[in-house]
Amino acid sequence: MYKILSIVGTRPHFTKAASVCRAIGESPDMEEVMAHTGQHYDANLSDDFFKELDLPRPKYQLKVGSGKPAWQLATIILKLDEVIEAEQPDAIIVYGDTNSTAAGAIAAAKNNVVLIHIEAGLREFDKSIPEEINKLITDSITDIFFSPTQTGVENLKKEGVTENVYNVGDVAIDNIAFNKSRIESNVSILEKYNLQKEDYYFMTCHRACNTDSFENLHNIISAVAALDEKVIFSAHPRTQKAIAEFDLTHLIKHSNIEMIDPIGFWDTQTLVRNAKMVLTDSGGIIKEAYFHKTPGVILDKQTEWIETIEEGWNVIAGPDKEKILHFVNNHPEPTHHTNCVGDGNAAKKIIKITKEFLDARKQESTRLSTTHG
Ligand code: UD1
Repeated sequence: MYKILSIVGTRPHFTKAASVCRAIGESPDMEEVMAHTGQHYDANLSDDFFKELDLPRPKYQLKVGSGKPAWQLATIILKLDEVIEAEQPDAIIVYGDTNSTAAGAIAAAKNNVVLIHIEAGLREFDKSIPEEINKLITDSITDIFFSPTQTGVENLKKEGVTENVYNVGDVAIDNIAFNKSRIESNVSILEKYNLQKEDYYFMTCHRACNTDSFENLHNIISAVAALDEKVIFSAHPRTQKAIAEFDLTHLIKHSNIEMIDPIGFWDTQTLVRNAKMVLTDSGGIIKEAYFHKTPGVILDKQTEWIETIEEGWNVIAGPDKEKILHFVNNHPEPTHHTNCVGDGNAAKKIIKITKEFLDARKQESTRLSTTHG
């Protein structure tokens, strides 16, 4: 029996972990122990997701909370060190590109535990982006690379990494595909905000480059306020704080924008699926909108989900008022849809490959100990 320690800590991790957790549960050779770093602690960014995704309560709650990135990283590493010491896992899974991801990767590598990176190989090619640093740190010490796209595989190849690299699709998409009917039949959130299919835009915005800049946030909100349809704006706590601090509330008041607190996973999927278009800087929403065949305008200067742009579903506007308005009003027709971010079976593939990797390792260490013993 292999013991897998999975490290979660932020909202996007929970949706990804739900699929992997299900696949580990179906594997007779593996057991999972989960550690929650506590990077996200508000109920609507954390606990609510555990409930609605049927995720088991993590055995370890590290309760790190918010703080400066280097402090947060260091604190998570120290706490995870103790968990690894106590659990002696055969492998550690980290997801995506957050501070919890990079901290988990360092803790795994420093304890010589096999490191599995889910969402490996994605790059935005800009080291001023906090997540880019986390991606680079994590992939520089990963043992098994599970990329959600072929672009991720190619990026790793350019960095000289070709061994144990697999394009398996995205695990968050597994979850959506698995629960498609639940998302389709969920009408209460549409009723709550009096929405009809394709008569509104859905928006999120939380990346540091937008929330930490008055100019960028001002541009984005004034562009969205000039749209002719209702906009449901699910706002991360850091965005709400920035709007208040930059005194931008007046742009939203009495406008077409309905700013709401962050909502749960299923409600978000329903709003994305039924929207006329999404406006977002979230990598997660960009690919989820693609899966639901909802066109998107990206409020960031770049994206790692290149394939969704090549197929015409998403377009990059950045925090530029004119571009946002232009692309919303003149969105290019999507050309085709190849399910390039995954077919709903990523987690199953990940667990199968991981088992083969761990079996091979075990055989090798048995062979070495017999040879030398
Ligand atoms: C983090 C990830 C980002 C991911 C996002 C998903 C990093 C560098 N960024 O961004 O990649 O897309 O999660 O949501 O790891 N806060 C709360 N309540 C919470 C957590 C945070 O109010 O439960 C506020 C705090 O003011 C905090 C700020 O949000 O300082 C930023 O939180 P942080 O976890 O650093 O980054 P996110 O923006 O959430």
